[in-house]
Amino acid sequence: MSGTPILELIGVRAAYGRIEVLRSVDLVVPRGAVVALLGANGAGKTTLLRVISGLMTPTAGDVHLGGVHVSGATPDELTRAGLCMVPEGRGVFPNLTVEENLWLASYSGPRVEKILTEAYSRFPRLKERRRQLAGSLSGGEQQMLSLARSLASDPALLLLDELSMGLAPLIVEQLYDTVAEIAEQGVSILVVEQFANSALRVADYAAVMLGGRVVATGEPAEIRHKLSDLYFGGAA
Ligand SMILES: Nc1ncnc2c1ncn2[C@@H]1O[C@H](COP(=O)(O)OP(=O)(O)O)[C@@H](O)[C@H]1O
Ligand SMILES: [Mg+2]
Repeated sequence: MSGTPILELIGVRAAYGRIEVLRSVDLVVPRGAVVALLGANGAGKTTLLRVISGLMTPTAGDVHLGGVHVSGATPDELTRAGLCMVPEGRGVFPNLTVEENLWLASYSGPRVEKILTEAYSRFPRLKERRRQLAGSLSGGEQQMLSLARSLASDPALLLLDELSMGLAPLIVEQLYDTVAEIAEQGVSILVVEQFANSALRVADYAAVMLGGRVVATGEPAEIRHKLSDLYFGGAA
């Protein structure tokens, strides 16, 4: 892999009060790659995404976005630098319609027409449901809406937290096909998942978190092999 990675974390630590949750995390997302960050519940995955997106300040270590040191940058500054996070639980506004949710994405700059055209061509389902309240959509459709909203900002790096949470396997597969398409269009992606299979199918690289550290990185096939040992074998 050549060139500056889109994201590089070096020795990142973070804590809630006195409780250290990230204990020196090193992680690289090469430009244009899909990286799957796997790990059991409580491993620190969401906390790591919070640090990357500026919602939490690390107590130590460095975060580089496109080669630029960004530790301590605000979420707004990071958004302008090309970062976009789809949070766990999706972050759509349930009492607004699909179309209103997409309008709000234009707040950050791009024109409404362009956002709608792109969203509806990628997700025809959203067009059918454009006048429905987002809260009345199925889980998979809500996830499509949050992906469409995040793509409106034309991100360089997309962070996805537990895309598959609560969704049927077939829907998860379809969403991951979309993730692969988004990556083919040049967006780098860091996807966090507790359940590994779909994420590993589309990932170029994978990493496993355990107890606030990245304990293994490699090609998806390699990581797939190691997973049960790492989850249940208590390596720390
Ligand atoms: N807001 C919080 N305050 C205190 N502890 C937290 C908070 N959020 C998460 N934690 C703790 O931090 C650890 C890592 O959580 P998290 O990053 O959510 O893990 P994951 O996303 O891998 O499930 C867990 O032990 C969790 O209980
Ligand atoms: Mg989480």
